Amino acid sequence: MCGIVGYLGYKAIAPLLVESLRTLEYRGYDSSGIAIYNNGTQAINIYKATGKLQNLVDVLPADLLIEPPTKNLQVGIGHIRWATHGAPTVENAHPHHGHHGEVVLVHNGIIENFDELKQVLQGKGYVFNSQTDTETVAHLLEDILKSHHNDFLPAVAELRRQLHGAYALTMMHKQAPGKLYVARQQAPLVIGVGNQGEYWVASDVVALVSHTNQIIYLEDGQYAELSEEGGVKLFGPDNTPVEVKIHTIQTGPLTIDKKGYKHFMLKEIYEQPDVVRNALLERITSETSPVFIANDTPIAEKEAVSIASLTQDVDRVIIIGCGTSYNAGMVAKYLIEELVRMPVEIEAAGEYRYRNPVLNDRCLVIAISQSGETADTLEALRLAIRSGAKTIALTNRPDSTMAREVDGVINVRAGVEVSVCATKSFVAQIVALYLLGMMMCEHRGVTEKLAELPALKKALLTLPVLMEAMLSNVEPLQKLARKYGHYTSMLFIARGVCFPAALEGALKLKEISYIHAEGYSGAELKHGPIALLDESMPVVSLLSDGAVFDKMLSNCQEAKARSAQMIAVTNKAIPHGYETTFDDIISYPACHEWVSPLLGSVPLQLLSYYTAEFLGKDVDQPRNLAKSVTVE
Ligand code: F6R
Repeated sequence: MCGIVGYLGYKAIAPLLVESLRTLEYRGYDSSGIAIYNNGTQAINIYKATGKLQNLVDVLPADLLIEPPTKNLQVGIGHIRWATHGAPTVENAHPHHGHHGEVVLVHNGIIENFDELKQVLQGKGYVFNSQTDTETVAHLLEDILKSHHNDFLPAVAELRRQLHGAYALTMMHKQAPGKLYVARQQAPLVIGVGNQGEYWVASDVVALVSHTNQIIYLEDGQYAELSEEGGVKLFGPDNTPVEVKIHTIQTGPLTIDKKGYKHFMLKEIYEQPDVVRNALLERITSETSPVFIANDTPIAEKEAVSIASLTQDVDRVIIIGCGTSYNAGMVAKYLIEELVRMPVEIEAAGEYRYRNPVLNDRCLVIAISQSGETADTLEALRLAIRSGAKTIALTNRPDSTMAREVDGVINVRAGVEVSVCATKSFVAQIVALYLLGMMMCEHRGVTEKLAELPALKKALLTLPVLMEAMLSNVEPLQKLARKYGHYTSMLFIARGVCFPAALEGALKLKEISYIHAEGYSGAELKHGPIALLDESMPVVSLLSDGAVFDKMLSNCQEAKARSAQMIAVTNKAIPHGYETTFDDIISYPACHEWVSPLLGSVPLQLLSYYTAEFLGKDVDQPRNLAKSVTVE
């Protein structure tokens, strides 16, 4: 999704803004731009380009890319855009300026009442050059400044009163050349504090970690003025000053490096054995030792609440998430219901937040989110917090907004995931959820299930080695990708705990290869989707050894009888009598039934990857997608 950066200090600003934007570019974007205060002309110069960041570098004047000869204070902002209002054009790219060029700003989020505001401003003679909601904010702010004697902070307070929707704003004012202004409402924004009045701004800490580990997290409704002499003047939603809290974060500089792999996605698929090892580290040490999960909350005062205690006085679990995180949650529903004997609901956050769900303090709500910033999951989580439910964020970003608002945080420890298409975070989420399920079983003393835990712990501890075996022979999947890459539609089927892995397999394929794909339970096939089947529709079946293997075989037979091309992804020999059912068979190692969705997902990820690569698609940054979806 869009990314914001800003800088106030004495370093050469253009390269710094571009490099900071580069740290956010993996999240998906379609255009970019920067604005820099020019100390000579006393104007704010804006540079923009569509497409890759290099196109922006190409339009920058050469002298901007070298160290300035004089040591004047440098102030500037930058943005990479993921289009919401208006096509990805130079006109629609940020930064946007007000009618008189007094105000220049960048924005993440969506202004819901922009059309209404725009009509009023047009009536006053303001001319719009873009289709964006953001330009409305720039004009409106200039309009408000006129009636506030150019006093910026009261103008921001009034701006906030008039804007409806979500925004992270970073603003410059020509009349205040040494200052940056920021405001946050339902879209993340952080301030990095450097030495002696040097400040950075970013929509994600990732853009700051190579500069500083001193971070101020803005909360919803807060806004601030940053300057060398005045420091950070922070205000709350009621416009009163707020004490500034600086957090020292642990992260060192992040290396975003393909390490010789052709794409980040492939690298991340190959990282999965280590991701599993890391997710288990110190949480289970042997098949007989109990599970321990620390609360990884970034809020010091909350550390006293243990994850185990949060799961005690509850009689219902509600899991919320979107996309891949939702699919991971569905796997956990099967496991937690089995091991804890407690009802588990799995909910798509974007729907849940607009329902009137029955929630109370006997509910444990688990929000699953790689980024910890997904707007729909965050709002569904806030609904749960307001209802008094106990809340846990299971995330790859323990510094995220979700992590700062919940009672307990479980870090899935997948490491930075650069490819827009989630792979290793999915596996890490399921492992963390399995640990949570086992821990609940132990702490709640579900006696009839305790005997099943050692086998599952052992299976998880040996999973990395099985994954490595799977990853050492990818040629059959490369061949499969070449054979089926030109089909326009595919079905993925599975049953039981592997059913969510079929949904995830279909999601991966459509995301990066743009081949239409749907996931179904093998049982559902005959209730509708079977009408689609003929020789033009390949069916990938995840056939895992376990309780529903035979049922799945029958479902595969039913599909073959309709002339579908059948691909089995299986960890068990196909029995006698089914030789002609399958056109292709991909094997993965034999494993514990609960581990099958984890191990069986690897060949499905690779199938999608090699298909997209064969078709020449932009694997790491698929069209129309963004890594962190911070708008509704
Ligand atoms: C798919 C994918 C998305 C995300 C979804 C939720 O590859 O990445 O479906 O899973 O947008 O994102 P998070 O997990 O950050 O909340």
